[in-house]
Amino acid sequence: MANCSTDVCSYKRAWALDTWVRNYIHNPYKICGDYIKEGQIALDLGCGPGFFSLSMAEMVGEKGRVVSVDIQEEMLQMLRDKSERAGLRSRIIPHKSQPDKIGISEMVDFALAFYMVHEVPDKKSFLSEVASHLKPDGRLLIVEPKFHVSKPDFDSTLRVALSTGLKQICEPKVLFSRAVLLVKV
Ligand SMILES: C[S@@+](CC[C@H](N)C(=O)[O-])C[C@H]1O[C@@H](n2cnc3c(N)ncnc32)[C@H](O)[C@@H]1O
Repeated sequence: MANCSTDVCSYKRAWALDTWVRNYIHNPYKICGDYIKEGQIALDLGCGPGFFSLSMAEMVGEKGRVVSVDIQEEMLQMLRDKSERAGLRSRIIPHKSQPDKIGISEMVDFALAFYMVHEVPDKKSFLSEVASHLKPDGRLLIVEPKFHVSKPDFDSTLRVALSTGLKQICEPKVLFSRAVLLVKV
């Protein structure tokens, strides 16, 4: 994996997020497949070059949409190019956010925050905004890298997420990661 610590993972290291071998380590269907249905709106927070967004676009089908959010325009351009080549561009809504404001208008059924929450400066404000964009019974899956995020730090993020009113469902197993699935009640 790229050298992405608590600093923002630069678009110059995007290649490391998007290798074929990652499909075996972080298979998007195994990680998100149970939570995304056809026709739904999914949110990929800190989407990077779109490793998850493209598979999520397949999962939501022709009538669904994936809102893919990142603070780096270069990441979003890679996502646009890749989704165009894959014939999935029309299902994806790229959105350039600010570090302290996501700024989307959609209400979503499922949100993924994969290896990105540790890069967010104000987790309370960020997770509150995510929670406010989840539909009732909408799910948020937070996955953080074990090699950058300690258990106490992950537990601290979880406490912040719970303080936004989300409820914990389970802690899914994701290789090399700490993960939690939350629901909006
Ligand atoms: C380590 S990369 C992970 C990319 C992708 N989720 C994946 O797993 O392939 C983290 C991404 O989060 C983005 N990011 C960092 N802080 C962010 C914020 N506050 N809001 C949205 N995206 C952010 C970075 O620009 C980077 O593309």
